[in-house]
Amino acid sequence: MDRLPGFRDFYPEPVPTADAWSADLRRHIFNAWSATARRYGFREYDGPPLETLELFTAKSGAEIVGQLYNFTDKGGREVALRPEMTPTLARMAAAHERQYKKPVKWFAIPQLFRYERQQKGRLREHFQFNADILGESDRAADAELIALLIDSLRALGLTRADFVIRLSSRNAWQEFFAQRGGNAANAYDFYQIIDKLEREAPEASAAKLQALGFSLDAVRGFIAAGEPTAELAAILHNLAARGLGDFVKVDYNVIRGLAYYTGPVFEAFDVRGEFRAIAGGGRYDNLVKLVSGGKVDLPALGFGMGDVVLAELLKERRLAPKLVASLDAFCLIEDETLRADSLSLVQRLRDAGLAVDYPLAPAKSDKQFKRALELGAVRTVKVERSADGALLARVKNVATRAEERTPVAAVLDLLRRG
Ligand code: HAM
Repeated sequence: MDRLPGFRDFYPEPVPTADAWSADLRRHIFNAWSATARRYGFREYDGPPLETLELFTAKSGAEIVGQLYNFTDKGGREVALRPEMTPTLARMAAAHERQYKKPVKWFAIPQLFRYERQQKGRLREHFQFNADILGESDRAADAELIALLIDSLRALGLTRADFVIRLSSRNAWQEFFAQRGGNAANAYDFYQIIDKLEREAPEASAAKLQALGFSLDAVRGFIAAGEPTAELAAILHNLAARGLGDFVKVDYNVIRGLAYYTGPVFEAFDVRGEFRAIAGGGRYDNLVKLVSGGKVDLPALGFGMGDVVLAELLKERRLAPKLVASLDAFCLIEDETLRADSLSLVQRLRDAGLAVDYPLAPAKSDKQFKRALELGAVRTVKVERSADGALLARVKNVATRAEERTPVAAVLDLLRRG
């Protein structure tokens, strides 16, 4: 039986085929994400993968709603697998915001599901690092998030030569739209056209813009001028003070597809433009109010970074580390009458925190040694009984093949000495 298209299996390294996904690389990415988030003072949260359909239909915008995995559950509820984390976060924050001092800085690494057309960098499930700040309207919060985004990519070995943050503003586009007589009811349609400008044929974009009373030339002129608004200038200034100014450039091609963004928005791209967006986010000051039916009003902002494009980029730039199996020791059991004593030693070593494995079933000694090598064991340990009946252990350094004999009680100390 095959797996569903757009879904992935993750294998331990070495992965069975060149295009197989690596569980070890995924762990490496998750570790970099959470370690960087913690360095920035973010706390971890999570929510359910299945939510009410309604949470997404009103809040995320038409594009994502068209990609929902939704169904009626056995209790007759309309439900959907989460296509993104932000509405869940807004729901959770609204429910208990009084318990938390503002600003709230939270992160999560959910698996998300979107019924998208499969293409390079886009699958039907992905893991997404989400970092959000709630309860702070100062532009310093926008800069803090962008700095976290930059540093989480740097933590994986990527540099300014690899990626850039394209910074834009829904406010700037809103002003452009209003000043030229745009009808407020069409604003989201207009944003959607801008969002697709780089991916769609110019004639198609021009026709759609014209239907809303805009010319492609005027739109292109605005993008080319790229004049930072006061809010963007404040963000750039803040990032420059951290020495991160070079990572960001104002680019009004970015507007973001999701409906709820209200202010500065941004996306991370590889500098050569070979991949889809690595990450995207921005301010969504009205979402918590919308999700809570007007009960809670909290300014908010955040970003999401997917694992798919990121893993592709790391592999292409040869930044995916060589991830191999490793064990502190492999316990050889060549004499089955010593299995119980060997198990007792294995258990003591594991209790002490060492990574230890052993053969589950009787096996030839050369097979056992091969297995120790496969599992990346630093040492082999073999329990033996001396002529006078005492239990000893033969500890061998796999790399140097140097061997020592010690009483079983001293094995832990010997292994700890490294
Ligand atoms: P998004 O732009 O829809 O934003 O997704 C963010 C990132 O998730 C993308 O840049 C991409 O790396 C990854 N991604 C999205 N869809 C797929 C897919 N089908 N396959 C692989 N990767 C994908 C959001 O989801 C917002 N909720 C982010 C956010 C958090 N805004 C504020 N807080």
